[in-house]
Amino acid sequence: MAKKHKGKLMFQSPKGMHDILPHDGPLWDKIRKELREVAESYNFMRIEPTLLEPEALFQRSLGATSDVVEKQMFALKTKGGDALVLRPEGTASIARAYIEHGLSQMGSPLKLYYMGPMFRYEQPQAGRFRQFHQAGFEILGGDDDPIYDAQVILACYRMIESLKIKDIIVKINTIGCKNCRPIYRKKILDYYKGKVAASKGKLLCRDCEKRLSVNPLRLLDCKTPDCEEIKKDAPVILNGLCSYCKAHFKGVLEYIEELKIPYVLDNYLVRGLDYYNRTVFEFFADVSLESERHKKAQKTEKGQLEAEPMDVRATHVALGGGGRYDYLVEMLGGKETRAVGGALGLDRIIELIKQSGIVLTSKFKPKVFLIHIGDLAKKKSLALLEELRKDGVDVSESLGKESLKAQLRLADKSAAPLALIFGQKEALENSIIIRDLQTGAQETVPLHKFVAEVKRRLK
Ligand code: HAM
Repeated sequence: MAKKHKGKLMFQSPKGMHDILPHDGPLWDKIRKELREVAESYNFMRIEPTLLEPEALFQRSLGATSDVVEKQMFALKTKGGDALVLRPEGTASIARAYIEHGLSQMGSPLKLYYMGPMFRYEQPQAGRFRQFHQAGFEILGGDDDPIYDAQVILACYRMIESLKIKDIIVKINTIGCKNCRPIYRKKILDYYKGKVAASKGKLLCRDCEKRLSVNPLRLLDCKTPDCEEIKKDAPVILNGLCSYCKAHFKGVLEYIEELKIPYVLDNYLVRGLDYYNRTVFEFFADVSLESERHKKAQKTEKGQLEAEPMDVRATHVALGGGGRYDYLVEMLGGKETRAVGGALGLDRIIELIKQSGIVLTSKFKPKVFLIHIGDLAKKKSLALLEELRKDGVDVSESLGKESLKAQLRLADKSAAPLALIFGQKEALENSIIIRDLQTGAQETVPLHKFVAEVKRRLK
């Protein structure tokens, strides 16, 4: 309806931003409820960082040359001259809050979860908005035990699963650590430079040309068809991991196998934010069975990792993603803190729920519909409804309507089993009519007994 009138509207929501409308309210409520239940059952505590953050926080954490920082920040200057941005993601904010409030005192590791809007100035398209919502899980402190990586993946997985989305798959990779990643970075650089030299001309897209000089690992993240083609033969990191990273990744995979979470190794998954090290992962729904084949092909008979380049190109948008970020807290001025986390894109999840026809919400079903006739009855009606509500009976009414016919029609539509009919006579005599809407049988009962009589009939 809104679309039809958009041309005539005086104001509209900003491009790429959407109101959550009443018909989607129950779906969002359900997500909030499931998130709280999943988070609590895995011992995550709620944190809600501010929506605005210092611009420098993201420049430092996500990387000044990341797409998000370079192109997608909603920036503003306060009257006092502070450079702020609407947060494009939650992890850097959580790390900032962790340091600022000394949250390490609360326990190690500290498990936190959050939900809220994020803002990225992107070209809006299906599943990509300028204001979108994430639910995230972060584990900070403790050591870098792979069990924490598995716990974050598990919490995200359970959250998606709790919304009845089937065939979720985790793509997973490791991008090494401070020690082994520079060696891999050099290999990637050499490979791409070789390709560019051999082509004697323009081979990479404009973004990748830049990535070549500022962040070669992100060449692997490019989705343009030509760059994807070149990526096919690029070296994979598994061959060059240090022994610690190798053991760590093996540990993570063993845990998620133990949990029977479906996953595929994606040797080229690097993610677009700079703060990651070691484990990186993304969640997809309904990735083709081909992924299974790749998964099998990637393991040797002994179950060891085999560094075969693979071609799991996502034709679907990621429902979520995350990874380990052991250097972030220190980078932001805190103490050395191991950490891992993941966030789900709730707008994409909601879209998927709708497209798949998943039914999650049961509509409010009143047990009793109150019909009033006349001013005196109307005046007393609110208090009667309160008596029922206090006793846990779900009620509905249409007190703004005076016509008996209209009220009866709405009572019928509500599918409530009982109607209460409260007219002028009943209001004067302190009684009320209870009508069974299925059989049509009705009885007048004294007002002081009506709640008990209603409850008896509803048993
Ligand atoms: P991210 O991959 O940038 O990671 O975002 C996580 C999820 O948010 C994506 O998989 C996607 O579902 C959703 N998302 C991202 N951008 C948009 C958009 N423009 N419109 C709609 N949905 C979007 C992070 O943000 C990290 N902070 C995740 C993390 C948590 N890493 C460690 N802890």
